Amino acid sequence: MMSRFDNIASQWDKNPRRQWMTQQIISALKSKIFFRTDMIVADLGTGTGLILTEVYPSVKQIVGFDNSKGMLDVLSQKIQSNDMTNASVEWFDAEKGLLPSNSFDVLVSAMTFHHVSNISQLCSNVLQSLKPGGKCYVVDLCTEDGTFHDNNEGVKHFGFDVLQMKTWLEEAGFENVSVERIFEIEKPQGKYPVFGAYAQKKSLS
Ligand SMILES: C[S@@+](CC[C@H](N)C(=O)[O-])C[C@H]1O[C@@H](n2cnc3c(N)ncnc32)[C@H](O)[C@@H]1O
Repeated sequence: MMSRFDNIASQWDKNPRRQWMTQQIISALKSKIFFRTDMIVADLGTGTGLILTEVYPSVKQIVGFDNSKGMLDVLSQKIQSNDMTNASVEWFDAEKGLLPSNSFDVLVSAMTFHHVSNISQLCSNVLQSLKPGGKCYVVDLCTEDGTFHDNNEGVKHFGFDVLQMKTWLEEAGFENVSVERIFEIEKPQGKYPVFGAYAQKKSLS
């Protein structure tokens, strides 16, 4: 069955707000995580890879996970035409699947958690996918009133309470968790604050 993301995939990058948001997210992400050329990175809910394409030149390998074939097709085309040899895509459903274990130095996820039902389970999934000392950075909406999306199909959460997000990450076993507002999206119907959540998996030593 086609998802709403399959239908919108070819138009996704044309929205100027998304381009602007990507720049805000990248700036917040880079203020928390210093990418290195020996790092293996996951982008969960990569979509057309707006975040992935900004990060890939700085790292050894990056994998974009998503459950929309339409979005992944657009990203695969970008990877091929720009010869991004260290980037790849993997179909993955965060509602059911287990991410590769003990595999990533960093996992980033932008505007995807609100599409997944069980966040506590998702945080555990992310934790087990990281190597010891690995870091994750999750960006999503703060609690909203349900007016952010024009159509709430596939929206499982109207944003998140930042304290609840911190608790979910800590209960999953993450350390050094911090959740802060990073920017605000303005739409005709209102203003929508966005948080960035940073968390670290315990190191071996
Ligand atoms: C709002 S888009 C964000 C895309 C991208 N991160 C960006 O910033 O442009 C959310 C993405 O999450 C993906 N997604 C939604 N539910 C998912 C699930 N259960 N498993 C994996 N990906 C999912 C969608 O297909 C979509 O590409």
